[in-house]
Amino acid sequence: MAKEIKTIGILTSGGDAPGMNAATRAVVRNAIAHGLKVKGIMKGYQGLLNEEIIDMDARSVSDTIQKGGTILYTARCAEFRTPEGQKKGADICKKHGIEGLVVIGGDGSFQGAQKLAALGINTIGLPGTIDLDIACTDYTIGFDTAVNTAMEAIDKVRDTSTSHERCSIIEVMGRNAGYIALWCGIANGAEDILLPERYDNDEQKLINNIIQNRKKGKKHHIIINAEGIGHSTSMAKRIEAATGIETRATILGHMQRGGSPTCKDRVYASIMGAYAVDLLREGKSNRVVAYKNGKFVDFDIDEALAMKKDIDEYQYTISKNLAR
Ligand code: ADP
Ligand code: F6P
Repeated sequence: MAKEIKTIGILTSGGDAPGMNAATRAVVRNAIAHGLKVKGIMKGYQGLLNEEIIDMDARSVSDTIQKGGTILYTARCAEFRTPEGQKKGADICKKHGIEGLVVIGGDGSFQGAQKLAALGINTIGLPGTIDLDIACTDYTIGFDTAVNTAMEAIDKVRDTSTSHERCSIIEVMGRNAGYIALWCGIANGAEDILLPERYDNDEQKLINNIIQNRKKGKKHHIIINAEGIGHSTSMAKRIEAATGIETRATILGHMQRGGSPTCKDRVYASIMGAYAVDLLREGKSNRVVAYKNGKFVDFDIDEALAMKKDIDEYQYTISKNLAR
């Protein structure tokens, strides 16, 4: 039988995401509800290596469910990518009595969790990233808030773009993944959506589409460009030169990552946080919590990291038909 865990740790790692606090709160409170002690590790793996570890109680997470960012702070840590850094991290966990650890982050953070699991610390990953780029799950903490924030910003750009009868290229985040771009493209009724997973670099086709749409009487032309393609400003200059239509680029940037989480992010993050604690209580390790086919489930981290994710072809196809 698995050894009963008495103390768990929690950290947030990689880019912050709205809903991370809801997840942290759920981890802390579900753990306390079951008589476990909780240690908060500040600033991700960097804070672990620096032993920035605090005791958490139910009040440590009061008034946080509605807050964006992460109260535990976050960081990227090069040292933790090395076997020496990982060993040091596991030793520090043991020194502080941390037998189980919840890591909220993306694929990179899960690789760190996987290493700690191999060194004897029971680890559970929670998918926390606005990018939705984790293959094993249909939902990641923060995506819903980020796309809603971006959607509202794009609506505003659209108003001014229509008034001036311009073409607007709006660049959204997502690293190498196009999910934020695709969802905003559909939600904002964009004329073109450029996804790293699909873009063929045929700028002439884009230019022809802009000219055609103008002939059809469209007053604006909204292009959602994913960060993974980038170069929105230079693209705008080339489009303006080729079409004679005033073209502006707007890069939304980090505003997409902040703000109060949506209801969905608060609720799903809360469920996932509580679920992670239940897995640790069952003696599980090296697992990642996921939302798949309408259910909260968990996968082995090795299996989860080996999975591949692609853009939903149907969503991409209809997005083009809806932009006529
Ligand atoms: P995300 O978790 O959002 O994918 P990163 O890829 O930046 O973000 O990873 C966050 C942190 O996780 C890194 O700064 C590093 O400390 C740790 N990490 C990433 N990859 C590995 C790895 N292969 N082994 C150990 N730790 C890793
Ligand atoms: O992974 C989340 C994310 O916001 C990506 O969309 C983006 O590529 C990256 O993080 C930006 O990272 P930084 O905060 O270091 O600029």
